[in-house]
Amino acid sequence: MTKILICVAWPYANGDLHVGHLAGAYLPADIFARYHRLAGNDVLMVSGSDSHGTPITIRADQEGVTPDVIFERYHTRFLETQQRIGISYDLFTHTNTANHYRVAQDIFMRLLEQGHLYRQVQRQLYSEAEGRFLPDRYVEGTCPHCGYTEARGDQCDNCGALLDALELIDPRSKLDGSTPVVRETEHFFLDLASLQDQLAAYLAEDKEHWRSNVIHFSRNYVDAGLQGRPITRDIEWGVPVPLEGYENKRLYVWFEAVIGYLSASIEWAHDTGQAEAWKEWWYDPAARTYYFIGKDNIPFHAVIWPAELIGIERLYEDDPAKRLNLPYDVPANEFMHIEGQQFSKSRGLAIWLPDYLDKFAPDPMRYYIAAVMPETRDTDFSWADFVRRNNDELVATWGNLCHRILTFAYKHFDGHVPVPGLMDRADVGLLAHIDVSFGPIGRLLSTCKFRAALNETMALAREVNRYLDEKAPWLQIKEDQTAASTTVYVALRAIDSLKVMFSPFLPFSSEDLHQYLGYEDHLFGRQYIGTVGENKERQHKTLCYDHSGAAGRWAPSELPAGQALRRPQPLFQKLDPEVMEGLM
Ligand code: MF3
Ligand code: ZN
Repeated sequence: MTKILICVAWPYANGDLHVGHLAGAYLPADIFARYHRLAGNDVLMVSGSDSHGTPITIRADQEGVTPDVIFERYHTRFLETQQRIGISYDLFTHTNTANHYRVAQDIFMRLLEQGHLYRQVQRQLYSEAEGRFLPDRYVEGTCPHCGYTEARGDQCDNCGALLDALELIDPRSKLDGSTPVVRETEHFFLDLASLQDQLAAYLAEDKEHWRSNVIHFSRNYVDAGLQGRPITRDIEWGVPVPLEGYENKRLYVWFEAVIGYLSASIEWAHDTGQAEAWKEWWYDPAARTYYFIGKDNIPFHAVIWPAELIGIERLYEDDPAKRLNLPYDVPANEFMHIEGQQFSKSRGLAIWLPDYLDKFAPDPMRYYIAAVMPETRDTDFSWADFVRRNNDELVATWGNLCHRILTFAYKHFDGHVPVPGLMDRADVGLLAHIDVSFGPIGRLLSTCKFRAALNETMALAREVNRYLDEKAPWLQIKEDQTAASTTVYVALRAIDSLKVMFSPFLPFSSEDLHQYLGYEDHLFGRQYIGTVGENKERQHKTLCYDHSGAAGRWAPSELPAGQALRRPQPLFQKLDPEVMEGLM
């Protein structure tokens, strides 16, 4: 039994979840988590809402409300949406908890003690009208590279150049249009140069299992020479700097959000009444930690977060041998475009998960996203392709297979799994092939090759369909009842095994199938929205997962002959392309 820590990118709580979030990080993480639980490994899967940063404050300014109104609203919606689409976090919390503040501040203080932070005066744009420094995203002006007049302080949307707000020509405040002035302000910097050698050594270790784009990007980033990065900001919303004289500054959102993986693990341990349990995933060198993120997050997870972990050396531990585990793998996904266009929240070009879930079941979306998952290159979401794959693959291949064998068994064998007669080569061959496939398909899943795992599983479903067509139990039953019993038994056992293989991808319909096959228990644990006491004296809501009874099922079916079936329903529905309109 291996300890597997599954860390999932924290969504900014400034808008609903969309297909890009699902394809980039949440679905691969969930498939991985469900597989490892089935395989009997000890999974801890954590994430939460990223409550801080300019994405939240800009939205609050636009609506004329405080940032906590924004983050509470979207955090609550995230909990519901992720429960509906079945992302089985052990804990989905947020970064505005007392626990997260404490852990983030402890890490800041450790880095300071260890000499990996320094202070430096920076020049920044300041609004005299507002009496405050303006974060980069609060400033607009003319791009020094292309002359575009609406460039943002951090990036030009026209030519793509990354900018420093000070470079903008004719800068203006996005809040009131006034012209900001340049002022000096002192900030803390993370001294990445002091960690350069250790980071390079970490990235030079065996990384054969890393996706090549991720390891290449990270090595290049470090090899190019690391410079200090400011990790504090002159803002009011965020984690306070735990030092006197810095009351007006906050920790930079990227510095503290990545700490959420650790603080959420600690919160989970605390909430589940085993306060020390998080250490099993963070201190044991045999534990494996995975970070599921989109490719735009690679530097923060493969370089900055490891730098923080290396820099602190120890946390809450006197034993110098005990170091927090560095990421074992960062299986970042590429981007998923929509109908050939770049996803854009601002242009309303997105597929919102709550809208989809109001009309359709979760599994077809999970299936489609997994089938075209951007594992090694950008891919495209298209509704026509979605409908085609739903109708031709999910419904016609897997759903119909289950439905025809279940209804046949239900009708002709009095609602019970028949007792098989003597098996022939075809029977034995089919079951043997499926049984041995748990090995290779499990290896694909545990190495994050989700598309390939799904393809292999679907290929097995086709094989069972061919087997049934050849055996034709609807003819056998007229001549040789025992032969029909054998065929039906073999096919039921086959779909019982395939149910397990499909279940990381299709947890809802696999659970249904599990019931139709007559089992009394559940395939997976229960997801629920809980309320925890600690949120800076407020209660806060989290998404939780109750594991009981789901472990160790990654194995061939042992369907008992004679088991009573339940009246089957079709697992999936055909979709009409026109129905999908209006979802964008
Ligand atoms: N909120 C960030 C984003 O949406 C991701 C943060 S991942 C974290 O891009 F680990 F830093 F929280
Ligand atoms: Zn430009």
